[in-house]
Amino acid sequence: MDNKQKSIDVYSIIKPEIEKLINCGSTTPILDSRILLAHTLSYARSVYTHENINISKNQINKFQNLISERAKGKPVSRIINKKNFWKKEFQINKETLDPRPDSEVIIEYFFKYYEDKFKELKILDLGSGSGCLGLSLLDEYQNSKVSFLDVSKKSLKAVKLNSLKFKMYERTKLISLDWSSPDWDRDLLDFEKNIKFDAIVTNPPYIPSAEIELLQKEVKYYDPLIALDGGKDGLDAYRLIFSKLFKLLKPNGKIFVEIGKNQEKFISTIGLNNGLLTIDYGRDLQGIIRLIVFTIK
Ligand SMILES: C[S@@+](CC[C@H](N)C(=O)[O-])C[C@H]1O[C@@H](n2cnc3c(N)ncnc32)[C@H](O)[C@@H]1O
Repeated sequence: MDNKQKSIDVYSIIKPEIEKLINCGSTTPILDSRILLAHTLSYARSVYTHENINISKNQINKFQNLISERAKGKPVSRIINKKNFWKKEFQINKETLDPRPDSEVIIEYFFKYYEDKFKELKILDLGSGSGCLGLSLLDEYQNSKVSFLDVSKKSLKAVKLNSLKFKMYERTKLISLDWSSPDWDRDLLDFEKNIKFDAIVTNPPYIPSAEIELLQKEVKYYDPLIALDGGKDGLDAYRLIFSKLFKLLKPNGKIFVEIGKNQEKFISTIGLNNGLLTIDYGRDLQGIIRLIVFTIK
């Protein structure tokens, strides 16, 4: 075992590893290597390609092992258990979806409808995963509160960890419920002492079951199935949750719903059949409609 550190430039450590990642199909080999090297060294900052760092032989071995995991297809976020979303770095785990930049459109559109950042909003994050949506809103709306609901207890643990890290725990509620159970809305309102929500944000699972096999290996092998699988046509979760949402929302409240590519017509119709009116659509960074804003009809 060699723990003695030597000063070496980053480029000479990462160069041979970059080639391994290119051969394995990574499209961001330099960035991946730099993040994994910073993680190995427990740096809170990133490393620069041409700086000198102090590193031991053991640490180089550890870094090379992380590169081998990445070369087998494991996403960097799953190796370091962290992912940036909006303005924060979120802790993730095996049961949380890896937060996606596409979902940031929910936060952008929330601003459009709630311009006053000092407002005291009561928000529901339905299917909260890591808590990236609700905690980003808490960061922006300092007087607001968010209830996080998920069927996965491990996801709720990640929300708790993240809310503690961001000093937002006092403004959160963690609620373990399954929206496929018949009276989850009543159980939720019992928990909330019958006070309804000003706004609801949700990113339900929406991939049709048969398409999961066709997803990139980073997604199909590492994101939890329960966060992806939307049933035969991808719309099962929308049917289940929309049948209850109007009971949970205050009059004039808004619902911000993430959707999959080309699902907008179907999901607007499910909304309409359940007393919800589409008032806006939002596009992601690639120009795909990724968000529907609803209100009560
Ligand atoms: C697509 S992920 C979204 C996670 C997070 N909101 C985000 O945007 O990264 C869907 C979430 O819904 C949760 N979920 C799936 N089925 C559920 C159910 N029947 N009841 C409650 N939550 C469920 C999953 O555990 C997962 O966290």
